[in-house]
Amino acid sequence: LASIEVDLSPIKVGQAITVMWRGKPVFIRHRTQEEIDAAKKVPLTDLPDEAARNDNIAADAAATDENRTLPGHENWLVMVGICTHLGCIPKGQSLSDTKGDFGGWFCPCHGSHYDTAGRIRKGPAPRNLEVPTYDFVSDTKIKIG
Ligand code: FES
Repeated sequence: LASIEVDLSPIKVGQAITVMWRGKPVFIRHRTQEEIDAAKKVPLTDLPDEAARNDNIAADAAATDENRTLPGHENWLVMVGICTHLGCIPKGQSLSDTKGDFGGWFCPCHGSHYDTAGRIRKGPAPRNLEVPTYDFVSDTKIKIG
């Protein structure tokens, strides 16, 4: 399917789901305020990849927390769940998963740590997790693609 709609209403704060889109896993996390605050506090100069990697905005946009989400919906993080190193699927979606040193996702293949905005912070992955094209079609539903 070129695009899919996802109902976000069952996803409680702190929970995440994975949906398939164009054969790829897409991670959707309903972030807690603590996760958002932690991501906002990080100076850009601490980021190995300073580009937002968000297909919804300009390619040269900075990787601020705001630029990793959509305006007015910063509690939702939507990303392609494929490690930018060699393509493994990072851990961090289920509550019992390890989330790495920065509370986001951890790729066990070679040890890449992503933060609560899905930005690479440590390890061999060269880029932040990709934010796909998506939009809110209502307050509780998104269309990906
Ligand atoms: Fe994720 Fe290598 S594929 S760290």
